Order: sequence, then C-alpha cells, then structure tokens
Amino acid sequence: MSFDKEDDSSKLLEAQTHIFNQTFGFINSMSLKCAIDLCIPDIIHNYGQSMPLSKLIASLPIHPSKTCFVSRLMQILVHSGFFSQHSDDSKQEVSYALTDASALLLKEHPFSMTCLPQVILDPILVNPWFQFSTWFTNDEPTPFHAQNGMTFWDYAGREPKLNHLFNDAMINDTRLISSVMIKKCKGVLEGLESLVDVGGGTGTMVKAIAKSFPHLKCTVFDLPHVVHGLQGTDNIEYVGGDMFQAIPSADSIMLKTIMHNWNDEECLKILKRCKEAIGKKDKGKVIIIDVVIGNLKGDSVLDQTKLYYDMEMMVLVTGKERNEKDWAKLFFSAGFNHYKITPVLGFKSLIEVYP
Ligand SMILES: C[S@@+](CC[C@H](N)C(=O)[O-])C[C@H]1O[C@@H](n2cnc3c(N)ncnc32)[C@H](O)[C@@H]1O
Repeated sequence: MSFDKEDDSSKLLEAQTHIFNQTFGFINSMSLKCAIDLCIPDIIHNYGQSMPLSKLIASLPIHPSKTCFVSRLMQILVHSGFFSQHSDDSKQEVSYALTDASALLLKEHPFSMTCLPQVILDPILVNPWFQFSTWFTNDEPTPFHAQNGMTFWDYAGREPKLNHLFNDAMINDTRLISSVMIKKCKGVLEGLESLVDVGGGTGTMVKAIAKSFPHLKCTVFDLPHVVHGLQGTDNIEYVGGDMFQAIPSADSIMLKTIMHNWNDEECLKILKRCKEAIGKKDKGKVIIIDVVIGNLKGDSVLDQTKLYYDMEMMVLVTGKERNEKDWAKLFFSAGFNHYKITPVLGFKSLIEVYP
C-alpha cells in the first residue's frame, strides 16, 4: 500500500479522525451523565431564561477549583445537542438554554428520562462491556454473566440498587410510550375486557391504560421481587410469577420491551404461554411493543438507536432486536395466525398478534 499521494494523506487523516471520534464516543455519554449528576438541566430551567455562564457556575454544587472547567463541559453538551449557547455582546458572556433533549431530562418533566442514562451508564451495566471480546471466545451465555456469574434478572433480584435503577428507567420509557400509544393507537385496546401486562414492571403501562379504559380489568405480571409490596386498585392487580411457567388468563396480553430480552427459543416459550393465557377467546390478541429492524428505512438516527439497543441486548441478556421476517417466523411457529405492525412509537413499533 502506498501513502505518498496527496489524496491518500487526506483519506488517511479522515480515517484517523473517524477512529478518534468512534473511540471517544463514550465521552458524549459520560458528559451527559455528569450534567445530570450536577442537575445542570434543572438549574438552567429554574433560572427561567437563558442562563449566563457565571450564574450557572455560581449555582452548581462544585469546588471553587473546578469553576474554570464548566464552560468546557457545556461546550461538548452544546455540540451534542443538549443545550443551546447564546452570546450577548453587551455582557460579553455566553449563556445557555435548554433544548428539547435536555427539557426531557428535567426531574419534574411528566416524561422525564433522567433515570435512563443513570442505569445504562452505571458500572453494573458498563463493566460487562470489558468482557465483550473475551465472551466471543468462551461459552458464557452473556458478557453480563461472565462479569457477574449470574443472569441480569437474577442480579436484579439480589441487588436492590440494580432493581430500583432499572425499574425507574423502565418507568421513564413507558410513561412516554404509553401516553403516545393511547393517543395514537387507542383502537388497539377498544372492546377488550381484560389485559395482562407480562413483565409489566411496577405498572406504569397498566396505570395509563386503566385511566383511559376504567372498565378494563388489568393485571401487572412480573417477577416476585419487582411487584413485591405494590398495591393494586379496583381494576389493577399485581401478580408475581414466571412467564415461562404460566401467565394469568385474559383476552389480551401486553409485552412491552420483553421479547427483545430473550432469544428465539425463549420467545417461543413466552408466546406459547401467551396463547394458553388467551385460550379460545374471540377478541384475544397479544400486543407487543418492541423494535422492528429495517422498517422506517433511511432514518439513520432511528437505525442507530436500534443497533445500539441490539448490542446492549447482546451484552446484558440473551435477547436481540428482530426484523419483520424474524418476528413473523416466531408468531407462526408459536401457532398465531396473523399480525399487524404499526410503527408509531419512535424507534419502537406496536405489533398486534392474533391467534
Ligand atoms: C425490559 S423490562 C420491561 C418492563 C416493562 N414492560 C416496561 O417496558 O416498562 C423487562 C421486564 O421483564 C421482567 N421479567 C424478566 N424475567 C421475567 C419472567 N421470567 N417472568 C416475568 N417477568 C419477567 C423484568 O423483571 C422486567 O420488569
């Protein structure tokens, strides 16, 4: 290979920059986590208008020796789209305002996403990545298992810190998704009499559904340590159990971000349990909310999110993201007859599956 031509050197430098940028990718995540830990979005929001750097520094819970570093932290967060920067010539000082993304990181936002970066970037979820390449050479089920000697779900059952961080992150995601689902796909739930949200966490989805459909009898079904101590209402019941053993009977079963946690063999078992739970009911169906790889082609931001999600499933659990063909194969193998995909939930889709 010769490197002496002018255009070779520009290609090489471009390639070198690409390597730097991809290697440094974690700096975006860690700077975001730092901003959340320091409550920067809330501090700027509470100021009520674009916040001058000096005021921001004065409001931060930091050591005086660190004040000179704040503008540099803000610089990368402006670049990654979390804040906008404004200059006021008269004051010769920059000021910062929230963007749509940082507004969604406010603790009081009804759809706050603050807990998601906290769990994804916690050492419990980051450390398994250091096992990634070794895992390819051994027979450990997942890098998470190689790191911790047990499955993600067993670890969450034994370690309250992970259980709470993870459940809170799921609540963040599901608050927004359930609200959009009820707004855009209300018809999916109309006419149903009972619904079991399998792997329903602490009940965020079911609470949103029960508000709009007060006559629907809802059950949140999850592992015993997740639903332990949770109080039901007139139309919401919490049941602890194992979806691989049996699922409470209902005419509809919800599976939100469940199937992507499991491999094909495990998904087949879950779907068969769902089919048994629906029984021979006329209106019966399974409602899945998950990624469909390859739909909405051409949206590179959504494609990137789906790929990240797929890799996270590879490292933490036995699951994966699926394309329509993969989904169809699973549904028909489990004895279902037809399905309908509605891609209206951002990078996730709603899939109705009928016996
Ligand atoms: C990715 S979370 C999704 C939670 C919820 N559906 C949501 O989207 O907010 C997966 C859920 O599956 C639950 N889960 C894992 N293994 C399970 C099992 N064997 N039986 C029932 N639930 C299980 C976990 O405890 C967790 O709450």
